[in-house]
Amino acid sequence: MNIIELIKQKPWLSERFKPVGNSIWHVPTMITKEEKLMLAWLAENYVEGAGQVVDLGSFLGGSSVFLAHGLNQNKKVNKISTKVHCYDVFFIPPRDVHVIDYFFSKNNLVFPSDGNILPFFEKATKPYQNFIVTNKGRIEEFEANFGDIELLFVDLMKSPVSYNHVVKEFFTALIPGKSLVILQDYLYKNSGAWHAILMEKLSDHFEYIVDTQVNSVVFLHTKALSKEILESCLWENISFDEKVALMEKAKKRWNLIPHIEIIENQLTLLKTKTKTKAIQ
Ligand SMILES: C[S@@+](CC[C@H](N)C(=O)[O-])C[C@H]1O[C@@H](n2cnc3c(N)ncnc32)[C@H](O)[C@@H]1O
Repeated sequence: MNIIELIKQKPWLSERFKPVGNSIWHVPTMITKEEKLMLAWLAENYVEGAGQVVDLGSFLGGSSVFLAHGLNQNKKVNKISTKVHCYDVFFIPPRDVHVIDYFFSKNNLVFPSDGNILPFFEKATKPYQNFIVTNKGRIEEFEANFGDIELLFVDLMKSPVSYNHVVKEFFTALIPGKSLVILQDYLYKNSGAWHAILMEKLSDHFEYIVDTQVNSVVFLHTKALSKEILESCLWENISFDEKVALMEKAKKRWNLIPHIEIIENQLTLLKTKTKTKAIQ
């Protein structure tokens, strides 16, 4: 069976696949158990060393440790040249009381008064430090200058600004016919509509492979992207009417009510935000 067909069967849910060690299951994280298993499985079994692994939005290191654990288990990659490139501001504003309560207080961790969470990320990823490249700062400050990307996990496109930058900078490094892109916010009801809109706009260049029921959707990059095509996907280059039409198209791809409701909610948010902006 070819590996893409295998991925569609979610082999990471098998009883036989049990990533363990280095306290990876104890790292406070925003991703689900299935997402953790999927990241570890893909890094171990899908990545061949054709390009790098990229973790956009590493937070306290949850997604990073599962990607790194998978790479560490991977028999095909050159462990010196294939890395997990992690990006985050590694900063939580002290006013973000819900995040602090949920991820720090509830885990008996003391929240640093300066909001700098990099030490927590470094501690969590220390067992995998040979695989981890840490990039601290706003994503908009970074170029993707480390070569091709084989596995791209995107968990920081929280605004049109970061969306534009990821599309312009990171999507150019994808390998046609090989790279997998995981959009972590695609199946989340309060996410920006750009996740679904992007994949509809680029439907000739990406193929839906599988999802984790909530949050993550995995796409295979099938056909090369030109600079012009990526430029046409920038948020300000898509008219409101086209955005709505693409969301309607995206909605039709899903069969289950919970998924359709997520897309509908994102569409409502898009319309509300555009209306509010027009009034201002
Ligand atoms: C949902 S969390 C990521 C969760 C993480 N993947 C995990 O496994 O727990 C999103 C992260 O993106 C980061 N982020 C959001 N916008 C960003 C930006 N423009 N540049 C850099 N980091 C950003 C936040 O600091 C936050 O840590």
